[in-house]
Amino acid sequence: MMKRVLEPELMDDAAQARAYAKADFSEENQGFVDRFRDYFPDWTGGHAVDLGCGPGDIPIRFHRAYPAARVTAVDASRPMLDLAAAAIAQAGLTDQIALRCERFQSIVLPEQADALLSNSLLHHVPNPLQFWFRLKQLAKPGACILVMDLLRPDSPEAAQALVEQYAADEDPILKRDFYHSLLAAFTEDDVAAQLAEMNLSRLLIDVPDDRHWVVGGIIP
Ligand SMILES: C[S@@+](CC[C@H](N)C(=O)[O-])C[C@H]1O[C@@H](n2cnc3c(N)ncnc32)[C@H](O)[C@@H]1O
Repeated sequence: MMKRVLEPELMDDAAQARAYAKADFSEENQGFVDRFRDYFPDWTGGHAVDLGCGPGDIPIRFHRAYPAARVTAVDASRPMLDLAAAAIAQAGLTDQIALRCERFQSIVLPEQADALLSNSLLHHVPNPLQFWFRLKQLAKPGACILVMDLLRPDSPEAAQALVEQYAADEDPILKRDFYHSLLAAFTEDDVAAQLAEMNLSRLLIDVPDDRHWVVGGIIP
């Protein structure tokens, strides 16, 4: 089993942020929003918080799916948030989606979240327990939680094979980041242990494909 290799926490290099923003994650991101609806068919609106929102595609899709939601999108990378601001303005949602350029570890929200979302953030975080600890603080009791991230493969060769399988024609910067993200990601067992340690075992883990895990459920 390959050990986790950390990558930088923030994606705050401008070229890196641009390469990420121009890649087509539409299927994955819409899949994330559709999964939220599958998991929580009764959720219709409230305060939704997206941690590590990157260039803003998930908050935009989420708001389109739930026009009654008040969305707060959080990312501590200024280049990423600038790209998110532009995408949100283009979508005509500047007044509906609040952007916060802050680390999730220290952010203070005006109200706790009724829905807490996060896609592809956790592998950036040196201490994953900090993430689950803050998630519990930022979400209201009874809030809907959906967290998805990459699954660490067994070896660097397996990681490289995934890059070639899913990102062969992408920008070299994106391919490099994808490879490092796979090395920094957690296994299903890692995530199960994190949830147990944080008393969050009521959240369920699913492995929907060969490179992702998903945690979802209601926060106690
Ligand atoms: C791989 S991107 C994912 C973006 C988006 N969620 C998506 O699915 O397209 C991860 C983002 O998390 C941000 N990030 C990393 N650590 C963070 C932290 N401690 N607080 C806030 N954002 C963070 C990075 O700057 C980056 O934009």
